[in-house]
Amino acid sequence: NALKENLETDIEFIKELSQHLLLARGKRLRPLLFVLSARLFGYNGDDIYSLSTIFEYIHTASLLHDDVLDNADMRRKRPSVNRLWGNSAAVLGGDFLFSSSFRIAVRYNNHQFMGLLTDTTKKMAEGQIMELMHSNDLNITTQDYISIVTLKTAVLISAACSGGSMIAGAPSRSIAKLGAFGLNMGIAFQLMDDLFDYI
Ligand code: FPP
Ligand code: MG
Repeated sequence: NALKENLETDIEFIKELSQHLLLARGKRLRPLLFVLSARLFGYNGDDIYSLSTIFEYIHTASLLHDDVLDNADMRRKRPSVNRLWGNSAAVLGGDFLFSSSFRIAVRYNNHQFMGLLTDTTKKMAEGQIMELMHSNDLNITTQDYISIVTLKTAVLISAACSGGSMIAGAPSRSIAKLGAFGLNMGIAFQLMDDLFDYI
């Protein structure tokens, strides 16, 4: 419900575009990790589900853009947004979700949390650009590959984990530990995602 309710626009086409992938069957791993991390430190606020959508909106925005970059026809067993409505619509739908996520975050008025989100999305773009620089590069070093995976995927999973604890007012040592947990989990997650392309 929160994923649907936090999308505010009077333009029906934007809803159709952004909901196509957003409400398609996904694991919703990032919002789940965010909620669990907040609860781990005793957070019980009603706004936790709204806040958790930030991580699914950013993730979905990045997938809409990624499917344009990868020229992908399918996503979650359905035709991709770029295939159905074209690249321009997919990029703009991603921009809408991306902006919506920051609109929700601003409501919370937490400078540290905003900093986490902006650092994260900047790194995601860096990772994706680094991947572009290494397209078809069979001699890529393990170190560069791990950097790409860390930036493009792991930092958002890490931010979901550390962000939940941050919202709950956890001590900075705990926030850092949850961030490290998410980062390692994110690296493992992307390693498997890449392995599936080969096997
Ligand atoms: C999927 O990788 C893509 C990502 C994990 C990150 C995409 C990031 C961007 C496009 C840049 C940042 C954009 C925003 C809006 C912050 P993949 O192609 O390996 O995975 P797939 O198999 O799911 O397509
Ligand atoms: Mg892709």
